[in-house]
Amino acid sequence: MLLLAGCSGRQSALDPAGEEAEAIYGLFIVLVIGGGVVWLAVTALFIHSARQRQAPWTAEHANRLIAWGGVAFPSVVLLLLLGYAVWLMPAIRPWTPAEARTGAIEVTGEQFWWRIRYPALNGQYAFETANEIRLPLGRPATFLLKATDVIHSFWIPSLGGKMDMIPGRTNILTLTPTRTGIFRAPCAEFCGASHAYMAFSVVVMEESDFDTWSRRQVEGHPATPEKGRLLIQRHGCLGCHALRGSEPRGGTAPDLTLIGARQSIGAGALANTPDNIARFIRSPSSIKPGAKMPDFDMVPESDIAEIARYLGGLK
Ligand code: CUA
Repeated sequence: MLLLAGCSGRQSALDPAGEEAEAIYGLFIVLVIGGGVVWLAVTALFIHSARQRQAPWTAEHANRLIAWGGVAFPSVVLLLLLGYAVWLMPAIRPWTPAEARTGAIEVTGEQFWWRIRYPALNGQYAFETANEIRLPLGRPATFLLKATDVIHSFWIPSLGGKMDMIPGRTNILTLTPTRTGIFRAPCAEFCGASHAYMAFSVVVMEESDFDTWSRRQVEGHPATPEKGRLLIQRHGCLGCHALRGSEPRGGTAPDLTLIGARQSIGAGALANTPDNIARFIRSPSSIKPGAKMPDFDMVPESDIAEIARYLGGLK
C-alpha cells in the first residue's frame, strides 16, 4: 500500500487524467494481471512436478510438452497480446484529420525550454507562450511537435503517451483531458546538459477560464511607465525575449507575457517567485548548465530586483 501511494501525483501514468492515458492505464493493468497469472501457473506447475518425482519421461512425452508449452502456448499468448495492442492503438494515437492541423497547438523543443504557439483562425498563431500549456477540459487538443536543435520528447504522463520531437519533422499527437488540474511534463529524451531541467506544466481548466486566459494572453501588457518595465527595455532583455504590448520583441528566447502566472520559471527549474527570477537573471548557467542565456551579473542588484518584481507581477 505504501508503494502504491507513490503511483498518484501530477506526473504519473498510473493516475490518468486524459482519455489516452486511461487507455494506456488499461493496457498496463491487463499486462500486470496477465503476467501475474502466467507466473502463478508456471510456479504451480513447477511445485506440482517437483513433488511427483516419477520415472523419467519418454522422448515422445517430452516432445509433446515442448510443442504445447514451448510453441503453442507462447504463440497464442503473444497473438492475443498483439491483437489487443492493435485494437487499442486508435485510442492511444487517434487519427488526426488534416483539418485538425489548422487548430493545433505548435510545441517546439529548444535547448532547454518549450516554445508554445496557440492557433488563430487565419492559420497564423494567435499568441506565443513558453513552458506552460493550458488546455480546456474535455476538448481534444492536437499538438504539432517540432524541434529546432536536437531531438526532445513530448510527454504528459497524466494525459497520454510520449512522442519524439525531431528537427525537420512535424509529429502530431492528440490528447483529451478529462479532469482539471495541474500536471507536470518532463522532456523524455536526453537532449544535453540541462535535459533534467527541461519540463513544462500543463494546466487543464474549465472552458470559460481557458477563454479568459487566452484573451489575456492576446492582449498582453499594454505599456505602463513602471520602473521594472523601463529597466527591461534599458537592459536589452527584449532583444531576445518578447513581452506582448511592448516593442521591440525578441523571438529567440522564451516569451515572457503573463510569466508571473506560470507554475515555474526556467522550464520547471525553479519555483516562480521574484527571488528566483532574480537568481535566474543573475546567473542562468548556475541553474541550467548549457542554457543559451548569458549571466547578467553586471546589471546592478537593485535593477535586477526591480525587474524580477515587475515580471513576477505579470499575471
Ligand atoms: Cu529536451 Cu531532453
